[in-house]
Amino acid sequence: MKGVILAGGLGSRLRPLTSITNKHLLPVYNKPMIYYPIQMLVDAGIKDILIVTGGTSAGDFLRLIGNGEEFGLSRIHYAYQKGEGGIAEALGLAQDFVGGDKMIVALGDNILQKGIRDAVEAFARQQRGSRIFLKRVDHPWEYGIADFEGSKILRIIEKPQDPPSDLAVIGVYMYPTDVFDIIGQLERSARGELEITDVNNAYIERGEMEYQIIEGWWLDAGESHEALLQANLIVAREEGVQI
Ligand code: G1P
Repeated sequence: MKGVILAGGLGSRLRPLTSITNKHLLPVYNKPMIYYPIQMLVDAGIKDILIVTGGTSAGDFLRLIGNGEEFGLSRIHYAYQKGEGGIAEALGLAQDFVGGDKMIVALGDNILQKGIRDAVEAFARQQRGSRIFLKRVDHPWEYGIADFEGSKILRIIEKPQDPPSDLAVIGVYMYPTDVFDIIGQLERSARGELEITDVNNAYIERGEMEYQIIEGWWLDAGESHEALLQANLIVAREEGVQI
C-alpha cells in the first residue's frame, strides 16, 4: 500500500499567510500542517510515501522533511506539480510511484482525530473499487457532499448550493491503481481543474465505491483563516494545552 500526500496549490484563500510560503507548511499548534497527514499514514502502517507539491516554496518541503527521519522513515518521495490543475491532476503525478499497488491519498491540510489503520486494512481486503470517508458538517456548501438513496450513495456534489445531505467527503481517499485511467479521461471543471469529486463519481457509477462515516473530529485546516485558527486550538487542546 502506497501513501500519497497532496500539498500543492496556491493557498489563495489563506493570503497573505501564503504569499511567501505553502499553506501546508503553516503551523498547526506546534507542527507544520503537513506533519499531521504524514503521521496519520505512518501510524496506519504506510511507509512508502510521496508528497506532491508545487509553487515557489517546493524546496522547503525537502529542507523540512528530508527523508522523513522524524517519522521513522528512511525515505520520502517528492513530485512537483506545475500550476494549479486540481487535486486529481496532482494525484496523476503519482502514477509511476504507485505502480500496481493500491494507495491512500491524503490532502495535506486534513487532520483527523482518530487513526485510519482499520479502514486501511479493510481497503486492503476490498476486492475492487475505492473507499471514502464521510463526516457530518455544519457548512455542507463548502465541501463535496454525498447524495443518498437510503444507505446507497447516488453521487457526490462538489460544494452544492442546495446540499442534499450534511455528510461531507473528507480529504482522505483510497484508490486502486485504475484511478489513473479515470484521471486520464477527466475533463476540466468550470474552475479549470481536474476534480477529485469527478473521480469519486466515476467509481460510484461503476458501483465500486465503499464508504464509512468517521468517528472523532476532522479538520480541513487550510479551508480559511477561521478553519486554521480553529485547527490550532483543537489540536492544542487535544495535546492537553489549556486555552
Ligand atoms: C476538496 C474537495 C472536496 C472535499 C474537501 C475536503 O475541496 O474538492 O470534495 O470535501 O477537499 O477537505 P477544497 O478544500 O480543495 O476546496
